[in-house]
Amino acid sequence: MPQLAPALGSPGTGDAVGIHVRFRDWIGERCIPTIGTNAGSPALPFQRWRRSKEAFAPEIVERALCETPGVVRHIVDPFGGSGTTALAAQFLGIKPTTIEVNPFLADLIEAKIAPLDFDAATTAFRCVVERVARGCAPDAPLFSGAPATFVEPGRDGRYIFSRAVASRLLAYRSAIDLLQDPVCRRLFRVVLASAAIPASNVVVSGKGRRYRQGWRERERDPGVVDELFRAGVLEALHDLRRFASRRCLDYVLLRGDARTLAADIGAQDLAVFSPPYPNSFDYTDVYNVELWALGYLRDGAGNTRLRHATLRSHVQLLRDFAGHEVGSPSLASTVDALQQVRSQLWNPHIPEMIGAYAEDLSVVLGHLRRRMRSRGRAYIVVGDSRYAGVDVPVAKILAELAEPLDYRLIALEPSRSMRSSPQQGGRHELGEMLVVLERR
Ligand SMILES: C[S@@+](CC[C@H](N)C(=O)[O-])C[C@H]1O[C@@H](n2cnc3c(N)ncnc32)[C@H](O)[C@@H]1O
Repeated sequence: MPQLAPALGSPGTGDAVGIHVRFRDWIGERCIPTIGTNAGSPALPFQRWRRSKEAFAPEIVERALCETPGVVRHIVDPFGGSGTTALAAQFLGIKPTTIEVNPFLADLIEAKIAPLDFDAATTAFRCVVERVARGCAPDAPLFSGAPATFVEPGRDGRYIFSRAVASRLLAYRSAIDLLQDPVCRRLFRVVLASAAIPASNVVVSGKGRRYRQGWRERERDPGVVDELFRAGVLEALHDLRRFASRRCLDYVLLRGDARTLAADIGAQDLAVFSPPYPNSFDYTDVYNVELWALGYLRDGAGNTRLRHATLRSHVQLLRDFAGHEVGSPSLASTVDALQQVRSQLWNPHIPEMIGAYAEDLSVVLGHLRRRMRSRGRAYIVVGDSRYAGVDVPVAKILAELAEPLDYRLIALEPSRSMRSSPQQGGRHELGEMLVVLERR
């Protein structure tokens, strides 16, 4: 029977843990080159559960809190991702509201910010491991509804999981589903999801999914799922236990599309977020393996629904990109310039996608404006893009479209440089910018 004792030492043991665990205790004394996203952060507690390339550094939340005039009690992030804003807010003693459309990421966020009963978690872990060891897996088809490439024999001789690994993942999934406690169920599901890629024959990067080198010769043994699950649970319980007494344990998590859900949030003092960039990075694709392997997606229709609920920041899914009256001169000239070079674009819908992207951001900013108190602020990290030599100055467009929504521009500053898309040769030229707005 695997032991969890090292992870479950009493709170207050270990370094720098007290009644009021402060933000610095969490982020440590690491050196942070920028406050931009993907800044090469080391393995932070919580963030290490599932490394996320697009997560921004938590210090941006602290800075926003210090700079915002008046008292800040409520903070919102309409594009939650891995939950950096929500978690940082809890450390800083502020109640977070987070929206996230991707159900795996929404679970990942909630697993980090929801209080956990550690005794119940220990018992639940034993229960799951015992059920799997007894071979109590259901006689169900492996990942039914998932694309054929998921499980051996796959398609054209290629597959993401061997049958043995897929059955072991399914055995854990079924054992977890039988748990009574919804908080434990969610935490273990997230840990198992985070084991899916390391247990598979593929790796995933910003450029998509590819097979590991020599994957056929070095195919994963199902025992790797046992090891990854145990190590993941230990790590998660360690972090949750160590920081269990952070200053705020309250939160609101809304699962779904920020373009509609942001209309219904409570009053806010501050927003800190980073939306998807208009760079053809498709978040549904990036998390596809977790979504199918853990049963977040069960059929093609569910996949299509999820993709339609995401921001119109990419062209992989052909959708309605029409209409973009958001009052930004830079947007108008950019769309015009892109239309002139349409024949050179790798996808002809890119000009309209850029317009639709700006419109989506405008809708979310409009909702936030209605919920934000006077002199409340929004700190937004965005990335510029370039298509066929045409720059898409996202930060400038954002600042311009915010003006008629009654925001004042406080700052527009470079955050770090970013590689342009592979289609542009991947040079380090594009800017990642921080835009600071204040509600009039
Ligand atoms: C750049 S990431 C946010 C990263 C986050 N700041 C962090 O530190 O982890 C953008 C997130 O927006 C989510 N997203 C995309 N479209 C959305 C929508 N319509 N509503 C809510 N979330 C959405 C994506 O799933 C992704 O997790």
